[in-house]
Amino acid sequence: MQNILVTGGCGFIGSNFVRCLLNEAGFPGRVVNIDKLTYAGNPESLADVEQQHPDRYTFVHADICDREAVRDVFRRFAIDTVCHFAAESHVDRSIVAPDAFIRTNVEGTFILLETAREQGGRLTLFHHVSTDEVYGSLGPEGYFTEETAYRPNSPYSASKAASDHLVRAYSQTYGLPVTISNCSNNYGPYQFPEKLIPLMILHAAEGKPLPVYGQGRNIRDWLYVSDHCRAIWLIMQKGRRGGVYNVGGRCEIANIDTVHQICDRVDEVLPDAGLGPRRKLVTFVKDRPGHDLRYAIDCSKIEKDLGWTPRETFATGLRKTIEWYLGNRAWVERVRSGEYQRWVEQHYGR
Ligand code: NAD
Ligand code: TYD
Repeated sequence: MQNILVTGGCGFIGSNFVRCLLNEAGFPGRVVNIDKLTYAGNPESLADVEQQHPDRYTFVHADICDREAVRDVFRRFAIDTVCHFAAESHVDRSIVAPDAFIRTNVEGTFILLETAREQGGRLTLFHHVSTDEVYGSLGPEGYFTEETAYRPNSPYSASKAASDHLVRAYSQTYGLPVTISNCSNNYGPYQFPEKLIPLMILHAAEGKPLPVYGQGRNIRDWLYVSDHCRAIWLIMQKGRRGGVYNVGGRCEIANIDTVHQICDRVDEVLPDAGLGPRRKLVTFVKDRPGHDLRYAIDCSKIEKDLGWTPRETFATGLRKTIEWYLGNRAWVERVRSGEYQRWVEQHYGR
């Protein structure tokens, strides 16, 4: 692996992964980041990397659905490895407007796979970053394993499931060297503040209502983003070609408890006597249609086979995340402005 193409590197996990690869992982080669810069992509998230590694990091502003642009990147940078993050990633948006999800997540993955296939033996690995949401919803018992049948419930998870199947098919049919990871919910720096944790941190800090869907009893299995990035890099280096790895934090929390923990921590670091305890900002709102009840990953395969374990607990990860959002208000304001604001106002009126 010398010239890695990262797709969607200006998004949340992609930007953390590029930083991890160039600063911590000991990867000696070059990273090329192709990103369309949708509302969720902010090149500013990698400004430090661009400055520190001008010879080893290149940003290309392009759509993964543009076959000629993708081919051109493979040619110009002699790409031998792909790590594919680019996607439309927010379930609520997929419910209101699924078109972009099918285009980017399904067609875009197809175009990357075709271009990777054209490289023949030069391509050493296509790593596909996916989600545990492809498995659907759990009841109160049980865990998702690598053998769990796919039962996606939202247009987002269905589009990711389709992309996983395409990646698998390219491995089986054409012998493309692939690995796939299915990870649980991530949190940490640079996450677009429409997702639960950053949204709640910012609303709590600003004294705004905290919109909890339904009764807040839905359970998510949280993983700090740098633990996910280390898992991906480990799979890319040591994972079995054709292999699938579930990645999760063994950290199941009901949404209402996550929101309460955020409120209590923000109360500690940003006391506001006028506001009082932030928990009273919790507002139960209409539930998400088709809302998956519970996600929980059995990550024993990656633990046993590759020796991966998460380093952060929810307490340490949440503390770092809150600190980051409160300390990076300029980044927050910039990603919140423009298209994001207009979209939210149009569809949610908040
Ligand atoms: P994100 O929405 O923060 O970032 C997505 C990035 O992809 C953005 O920079 C966006 O501009 C770019 N992009 C979108 N469409 C594109 C296109 N057509 N061409 C090029 N670039 C495009 O998403 P994220 O949370 O960082 O998720 C990254 C990947 O990880 C996704 O594939 C997602 O399904 C997967 N994943 C996410 C989570 C999570 O909790 N966030 C968990 C498991 C898996
Ligand atoms: P989200 O961050 O959108 O991730 P996902 O839907 O991929 O799991 O949501 C996490 C959980 O939080 C999910 O159960 C929906 C819930 N949620 C709220 O209750 N309120 C909100 O404002 C948001 C964005 C999410």
